[in-house]
Amino acid sequence: MNLKEKYDLLTDLNKQAESGGGQERIEKQHAAGKKSARERISQLLDPGTFVEIDKLVTHRNYDFGMEDNRILGDGLISGYGKVKGRLIYVFAQDFTVFGGSLSRANADKIVKIQKLALQMGAPLVGLNDSGGARIQEGVESLAGYADIFYNNVISSGVIPQISAILGPCAGGAVYSPALTDFIFMVNEKSHMFVTGPEVIKTVTHEEVTKEELGGAFTHNSKSGVAHFNGKDEDQTLMMIRELLSFLPSNNLEDPPVKVTIDPSDRVEESLQDIVPADPNKPYDMHDIIQKVIDNAHFLEVQAQYAQNIIVGFARFGGKPVGIVANQPAHLAGVLDINSSVKAARFVRFCDAFNIPLVTFVDVPGFLPGTNQEFGGIIKHGAKLLYAFAEATVAKITIITRKAYGGAYDVMSSKHIGADVNFAYPTSEIAVMGPEGAINIIYRKAMTDDERATAVQDYRDKFANPYKAASLGYIDEIIFPRDTRSKIIAALEMTQNKRKSNPPKKHGNIPL
Ligand code: HXC
Repeated sequence: MNLKEKYDLLTDLNKQAESGGGQERIEKQHAAGKKSARERISQLLDPGTFVEIDKLVTHRNYDFGMEDNRILGDGLISGYGKVKGRLIYVFAQDFTVFGGSLSRANADKIVKIQKLALQMGAPLVGLNDSGGARIQEGVESLAGYADIFYNNVISSGVIPQISAILGPCAGGAVYSPALTDFIFMVNEKSHMFVTGPEVIKTVTHEEVTKEELGGAFTHNSKSGVAHFNGKDEDQTLMMIRELLSFLPSNNLEDPPVKVTIDPSDRVEESLQDIVPADPNKPYDMHDIIQKVIDNAHFLEVQAQYAQNIIVGFARFGGKPVGIVANQPAHLAGVLDINSSVKAARFVRFCDAFNIPLVTFVDVPGFLPGTNQEFGGIIKHGAKLLYAFAEATVAKITIITRKAYGGAYDVMSSKHIGADVNFAYPTSEIAVMGPEGAINIIYRKAMTDDERATAVQDYRDKFANPYKAASLGYIDEIIFPRDTRSKIIAALEMTQNKRKSNPPKKHGNIPL
């Protein structure tokens, strides 16, 4: 081979690898409203930044005629590039090659990228679109999955791991995304389930469509498995870029600062009237959040799941924070199993990645009922308590109205390590609401007038923040209009916080 032939060979091999399963299959993918794996990577990364690794890898299988069927890259495209100028690692399963199924060879490619991402301290984004284990490879494929799962676990809490489900994701394959920090899905295009509709029909005789069983709506609103959903792939990939802009590259870095022109001393007069005078009237906690954060820009996480609690990312003075907030407009902001688990996971993510926590509290307590008790609200509620207590990042708490009972303790109270605790003058910090309290302390029959007087007495005495402030449990009672400047000052004060829990192998969160 002369020099030209050698160069031509490389050009030809690169072209072969880039054409994946061929034009026909790429067109089939497009017709199904899906992009090719390479198009997805280009969409995710800053233009021209993708560097591919292992482009010429092929499978090593000789069964079922596979020896004559080798495609360069073997159905997986992997490498690194930049998002908003910052390094990330990425892999994309290519459905046009053996249905994106996982072979030993392409599992090895994923593991290589996982290890690089961990060593270099950069986020890893996986774009999933696969028929699952490469059936022709049997246990080798299962071993490949297990290697990926193992590396997901080892990387957890060290680098952010993000999964996008852009097609099928079934069987044990769902467990790699489940081990990552955030799962993105696309409406009507992506599906996740451990066993599909056919198996379910055989085993439990239930009839269910794959969309109902494992579509984006199901996992974003019912199961809580997914965290975000986009209306199409473009929007979904843009949302991943947006999420990454809030996150540090690894657990040793601080989150990236974004220059803002939103004044840190901005007074928001409209907040003065936001909490209704009637303590039983709902209001939307989003309104408070939007009015105090930089440029009203809030990236809500799991927006459709357990809506009685709000979690998501925002910035104050350009610096990212994690927001946790009870939502009085949904189930009165009560804590239940789903909201406790949702918030606990978010708090632990923020703590792992040095993202300060700002918590807004308006909570009437834990949801009563056999459903909740039989479902284990005791251990699930304890998860949130555990998560807030073990978090060593800066923790700022603002009580806007109710902080009743155990839920007062749980919601980032001073007692479990919050650094700065504010309360609005509208706060009611007590063991329970006035009506419930009077029913218990005065079991004897009372006239309506006597009851009203007792309720008013209780309200005057306990349903306010002044007792807690007199004990130092609340650092300052603030006017709602000043919320933004107070939070920013508290975040500045705590920015060099150094705190660590006693050394241990790991704690034992009540799972
Ligand atoms: C090898 C596969 C494959 C697989 C699909 N293909 N899945 N090849 N192993 N798992 C191939 C098909 O043969 C076909 O090849 C091409 O990919 C496209 O598949 P189609 O069926 O034509 O596409 P579509 O109609 O869109 O259906 C997609 C699908 C279906 C729903 C994913 O292919 C399917 O049900 N596949 C099998 C899924 C499955 O049971 N996987 C094993 C799950 S168990 P040609 O050459 O015809 O284009 C598992 C365990 C993991 O994954 C355990 C981890 C611990």
